Amino acid sequence: MWLPVFNNVNDYWQAQGLPLFYTKNLNRQVFNKMTKNFYITSPIYYVNDVPHIGHAYTSIACDVMARFRRLEGYDVRFLTGTDEHGQKVEKSAIAKGIAPLEFCDQVSAKFRQLTQILQLSNDDFIRTTEARHKISAQEVWKRLEANGYVYKGVYEGWYAVRDEAFYSADEIVDGKAPTGAEVSWEKQESYFFKLSAFQDKLLTLYEAAPDFVQPAGKMNEVLSFVKGGLNDLSISRNSFAWGVEVPKALLGATRESPVQDASSKPHIMYVWLDALTNYISALGFPDEKSELYQKFWCNTDKSPVHVVGKDILRFHAVYWPAFLMAANLPLPHSVYAHGCWTNEGQKISKSVGNVIDPLAELEWLKSFGLDDDAALDYFKYFLMREVPFGNDGDYSRAHLITRLNAELANNIGNLAQRSLSMIYKNNNAKIVDFKGYKEASELLKNGYELQEKFSAKMNQFAYDLAIGEVIGFASLCNQFINEKAPWNLKKEGKIEEMNQVLSVMAEGLRLISLALAPFLPNLSKKIQNILQIDEKNVIIASMNEEFALKAGHEIKEPKAIFPRLEVK
Ligand code: MSP
Repeated sequence: MWLPVFNNVNDYWQAQGLPLFYTKNLNRQVFNKMTKNFYITSPIYYVNDVPHIGHAYTSIACDVMARFRRLEGYDVRFLTGTDEHGQKVEKSAIAKGIAPLEFCDQVSAKFRQLTQILQLSNDDFIRTTEARHKISAQEVWKRLEANGYVYKGVYEGWYAVRDEAFYSADEIVDGKAPTGAEVSWEKQESYFFKLSAFQDKLLTLYEAAPDFVQPAGKMNEVLSFVKGGLNDLSISRNSFAWGVEVPKALLGATRESPVQDASSKPHIMYVWLDALTNYISALGFPDEKSELYQKFWCNTDKSPVHVVGKDILRFHAVYWPAFLMAANLPLPHSVYAHGCWTNEGQKISKSVGNVIDPLAELEWLKSFGLDDDAALDYFKYFLMREVPFGNDGDYSRAHLITRLNAELANNIGNLAQRSLSMIYKNNNAKIVDFKGYKEASELLKNGYELQEKFSAKMNQFAYDLAIGEVIGFASLCNQFINEKAPWNLKKEGKIEEMNQVLSVMAEGLRLISLALAPFLPNLSKKIQNILQIDEKNVIIASMNEEFALKAGHEIKEPKAIFPRLEVK
């Protein structure tokens, strides 16, 4: 089948002539020309566990993209939160001897605190126990039902509470789920979602929008799962109580689903149907006219994008678009699945007792003499730089020290320290005109090309490579200052050239600080503060010659910004 290339999946549906999408996308085309709206979400985290490095990692990755898009001039909405329903949470609360909501309040507060400690720039924090979410999840259910995709039956099969997922018999390995989770055989009355009706529609979607799942390699996994055939999904249970109740009103006898038996216990929505809906609950759904919903679900650019760990890709790339199509709602732009961290080579698990606590890592970094802001930036930089986003990675303190000392302390730090202090001491803190300085033209050309190269990598979530571009340029700057040796030029009395070399370095640092701002918000700001860059010019679009530091521009007294991590 020949398929034209579409910019996003909703444009594709528009071309298919679906009326709802058609009108929505006419808006999209007009609005996108005028506004740049960007919506990014992290998964909402289960409250049965305290926050660990995995949660911090996903949230930081979202934060970096949110900051980058803001620096690109987008109106950004970044959502995170907690997933508080389901058997797993109910069990944890019972084990603690407290009511589920009280238990959720306690753990959710820890996740919220983590967002503050990590200085995440999230605009909202949603909890699935909030009224705004329950209304939204119930509305989605009603639409699935009204459109004929829900029926009543009996579920019989394997269920893993830890994963809150169903498994077929052929997926069970040595009596356990493929993830290693304990499973139990369940047989109970349940409502089902006709997922099987979406196999072709999903395959058409993946074909029309090959970047719906990123990075590219991950699409194959999704494709083979969907091509393997989709079973209808059990979306309610009445064997436990902690969750969003299935709305009764619509479960009428006129359709396949009979009215709920008054004597039976109420059905609770499957936690994944409940949880996935959070992404639109937080935008005001079911009020589809709400400003946030219009702006960030219907009229966005390069988004909505859901960033998730590879462990939950199936839920986001298969179930979620199927639910949305069934409810006749617009689809997200893409789902980005990243890899998992191991601890010094070992899988992170509570039972092994090797869970990495991000707060402990920040404390450890502070033991080298870093303040809160620097420790945080160093930690974030390592996580984003060390491992290609999408691959699994190993967390090792030794690697962290090597990486940070090489790239931040020795490379950028050294460049800043040497050049800025010489400008301050030797030229009354003033930049000189360097436009006519031919010897630096190649280096500056490289610097001004950085914007495009860096942004291209950022657009692919290739954080490690995006940083790599910046580090590559910083190395060129260091090479230049070493070759020109302004300290010798000074001795030789070549003061004009000395000042030109140093000013070019300051300009290089301006570009470096702008590109690294999404990763190192605190430390980049320190460079920008010394360079006295106007806040309104702290944007990606100023990484060019037009915004270059001008002759006579004065810098502030430099202070060391990137301390070395000295192992005693
Ligand atoms: N509540 C569901 C998500 C619902 S979204 C609608 C859930 N929660 S979770 O608490 O288990 O968080 C899972 C997410 O945490 C993963 O998808 C991943 O983003 C992150 N990580 C958890 N452990 C991780 C690692 N060891 N390494 C990297 N990230 C991991 O699933």
